Amino acid sequence: MTAMEVIGSPVEMSAWSDRVRASGKRICLVPTMGFFHEGHLALMRKAGEIGDKVVVSLFVNPMQFGAHEDLDRYPRAFARDCELAGQHNVSVMFAPSPDAVYPKGFQTRVEVEGLTGTLCGRSRPGHFAGVTTVVVKLFHMVKPHSAVFGEKDFQQLAVIKRMTIDLNLEVEIVSHPIVREKDGLAMSSRNSYLNAEERRRALCLHQALQLARGRVAAGERNASLLCVEVQQYIAGCAGAEIDYVAIVDSETLVSCDEITDQSLLALAVKIGRTRLIDNTHLLVS
Ligand code: PAF
Repeated sequence: MTAMEVIGSPVEMSAWSDRVRASGKRICLVPTMGFFHEGHLALMRKAGEIGDKVVVSLFVNPMQFGAHEDLDRYPRAFARDCELAGQHNVSVMFAPSPDAVYPKGFQTRVEVEGLTGTLCGRSRPGHFAGVTTVVVKLFHMVKPHSAVFGEKDFQQLAVIKRMTIDLNLEVEIVSHPIVREKDGLAMSSRNSYLNAEERRRALCLHQALQLARGRVAAGERNASLLCVEVQQYIAGCAGAEIDYVAIVDSETLVSCDEITDQSLLALAVKIGRTRLIDNTHLLVS
């Protein structure tokens, strides 16, 4: 295995990618905001199966954080992240500075409409425009053939897929299933905000998903009844505050009346100050 390179300059990154492309090799990108956990490492392994060269980008993107969100306290561990990526067959860790990504005078936004008007888009106005803008920029800087995104951020995945089609971006979008802790909590860098009590309380998200899957397995097909049941379950959990509970079509993200194999249950719940998200397909055919 050759040593991983750390690149900060977008110009150098593009030059590296031009060389790799000229040699006929395929580049797979894993876009991240760092503070790696097993979920990120699974994306890197997947990228290694798809591409000849794996690039991991690490950029805590200010544009996708709202004014009162956690940009300043977002967890960071650059040295540890480089070590972990280096152990996962990553060729380049691309870690540009905010000034390199958004130089003086920057004034462009890439925004997907429709899909961003619901779920997390409703509670985090401007968030997805920040995501799509930076992802397009990363695609131009890294020039990957494919990119891997986790399914925990299901809406993000749907929005990025839409954008790639709408803007004719020649990047294959590959998704990876949610990676969970042993007790079911979906892995997230934000889990590091939880104290021991909150960590226990956070299990209510996965439990609510399990409850819903159980009801559907037993024959429930009425989405609004099921939503109410899930809401009541979470409302009964100490220290949990619902942002949304929704059953939507997994492609259009429009609410469904009847549960089909396209239906996705998506949750956003605040545990203390920490907002967590999770989701599951309800009917696996
Ligand atoms: O999912 C994330 O970590 C971020 O939203 C992404 C895709 C790296 C864009 O900043």
